[in-house]
Amino acid sequence: MYDIEKGIVTIKKVFGRTKRWCIILLVILLVVIGVTQLEPAAHDSGADNQVAAIAVPTVIPPAEQELAPSIQMDEAVTETERPAVSGKLVALTFDDGPGPYTDKLLDELADRNISATFFVLGSCVEWFPDTVRRMADDGHEIGSHTYSHRTLTKLTSDEVRSEIQKTNDVIFSATGGVVPTLIRPPGGYYSNEIREICAEAGMSLVFWSVDTQDWKNRDKDAILSMAFDSEMYHIKDGSIVIMHDIYETTVEAVTEMIDRLLEDDYSFVTVSELLASQYEQILPGEVYGRT
Ligand code: NI
Repeated sequence: MYDIEKGIVTIKKVFGRTKRWCIILLVILLVVIGVTQLEPAAHDSGADNQVAAIAVPTVIPPAEQELAPSIQMDEAVTETERPAVSGKLVALTFDDGPGPYTDKLLDELADRNISATFFVLGSCVEWFPDTVRRMADDGHEIGSHTYSHRTLTKLTSDEVRSEIQKTNDVIFSATGGVVPTLIRPPGGYYSNEIREICAEAGMSLVFWSVDTQDWKNRDKDAILSMAFDSEMYHIKDGSIVIMHDIYETTVEAVTEMIDRLLEDDYSFVTVSELLASQYEQILPGEVYGRT
């Protein structure tokens, strides 16, 4: 009898412990299931953020910086030719493309028999090689805006060389032989060292005198107002106008801008043609278009 009673007590103890363990195991199981369910959502949201960060093009406004002192260049690689046009000249330039709206812009330019200059990103050239081919075939000038739009002053010399070389290679390949001689550093940031690297590559640095701020004002009327009504920066004879052909609003604004300038007897030239009307020679490593 004694043994039976002892056995019952033991069973009760064990059963009590087992029940506690079952509850503990159940809680652990629920926690594990909960974490497993939440994890993919966290990954997805991270991926979305990453895509959004890549998809939104960032354009840095021109830097307020000291102008680098002039580098002495003995020989001009680019001999300039006087443009056949006279009167009031303007050079329209487009950065950060090509993009989905560039062909529409090329249509508008072709309809009016107008030349422009495209400072293309090497990475975008790889996405739209046919558009870049068409730029060259239509008689537009193609300059470099680097491969990946990184701030050149934050890169090593070798990285800067690579940004320049990779872009020139893809432009050459897409166009069947165009070798760019103009470069517009992203955001307008450069240094004497970057000028020297550009000189080695046979390239001149080109900036702008009119910023329509189309990268900020995605609105046709706001862009036109900057181009024509701005007290300090409106388009005038000899202006180099910076815009970005990656925005639909820019293409809409440019079409109207061109028609207004044509009515005002402007002739449209490429940057090289405009500089040729102002300088005897265009020197590699030299900086043009800063006002
Ligand atoms: Ni840019």
